[in-house]
Amino acid sequence: MSEAPTDTLSSRPRVLSGMRPTGALHLGHYHGALKNWVNLQATHDCFFFVADWHALTTHYQDRSTIERNVYDMVVDWLAAGIDPEQATLFIQSRMPEHAELFTLLAMSTPAAWLERIPSYKDQLEKNRPNGEGATYGFLGYPLLQAADILIYKAACVPVGEDQTAHVEVTREVARRFNRIYSPERAILPEPQELLTATPRLPGLDGQKMSKSAGNAIAMRDGPEVVDEKVRTMPTDPQRVRRSDPGEPSRCPVWPLHQLYSDASTQAWASEGCRKASIGCLDCKKPLIEAIQAEQKPWRERAEAFLANPKQVQWIVEVGTERARAVARKTLREVRTAMGLAY
Ligand code: TRP
Ligand code: SF4
Repeated sequence: MSEAPTDTLSSRPRVLSGMRPTGALHLGHYHGALKNWVNLQATHDCFFFVADWHALTTHYQDRSTIERNVYDMVVDWLAAGIDPEQATLFIQSRMPEHAELFTLLAMSTPAAWLERIPSYKDQLEKNRPNGEGATYGFLGYPLLQAADILIYKAACVPVGEDQTAHVEVTREVARRFNRIYSPERAILPEPQELLTATPRLPGLDGQKMSKSAGNAIAMRDGPEVVDEKVRTMPTDPQRVRRSDPGEPSRCPVWPLHQLYSDASTQAWASEGCRKASIGCLDCKKPLIEAIQAEQKPWRERAEAFLANPKQVQWIVEVGTERARAVARKTLREVRTAMGLAY
């Protein structure tokens, strides 16, 4: 049906994913996405990009935040172990090709497909009080994402559960485009989402870890900061005194043990909690150490890149040109199919 991408020297299946530059990446980003990216780069032809236009769909008044966060996020990626020799890294706004495909796809995409997306409906409700509703850019968010994906003919899109509706729309958009403009030979392959297997990492308060909720441990938080944040985490509310037995399943600290501790440490912690034979600070200690140990190589790599910002810019420069070559080729096919090759 749809043809496999043949645009690069690589015959590995192509993966594409993006992240919005909304601030320092935290452990939730690492375990929910980045770790998976690092694993994929060995087996797939990976394209990873900074979705700065997507950040603007909601943060259009925060110029400076976005500006500051773009290269910082690339440093976080490199710190996590993304290897620019294996993966192609670039910035969305440096690729006007995405905007052209977005415009062309917009012609044949029913507005109702975008209006029914849950995140759009939420935004509409949220902004109704100030009379603004959602912006036109926000309505187009999933279609811009479709253009991001389809322009590279990506086979797989690693995303969290909150993004599956967008990949689904991408498939519908591709199918409709192919049917209308290229019924003999599908130009735009339908991508599959690659759901990240890691369970969602809760934040310091047990709610979803996010920067805006103020409950995050940043990838680059120093050892003292991690120590302080984990020590002051709330625990099982029924374990008021050291002598009160607790229940790990009621405790926001427990999911961290499930992620960071081996079976014997977990057994030690849950037993010690239920029998009140250990205190909460005892229980947290191996976690603090595990997180600090995980962060150490990140910090070392980040320091090297931060000391050499030109190198980071160069990595993005090379990635952008590599991405552009692929994007241009797809656009040529799309323009021809739509009768715009004059
Ligand atoms: N919408 C994604 C997010 O919020 C970011 C994104 C933009 C993306 N374009 C993409 C992800 C294309 C995967 C593929 O995280
Ligand atoms: Fe939570 Fe550990 Fe304290 Fe139990 S001992 S309440 S699991 S921090």
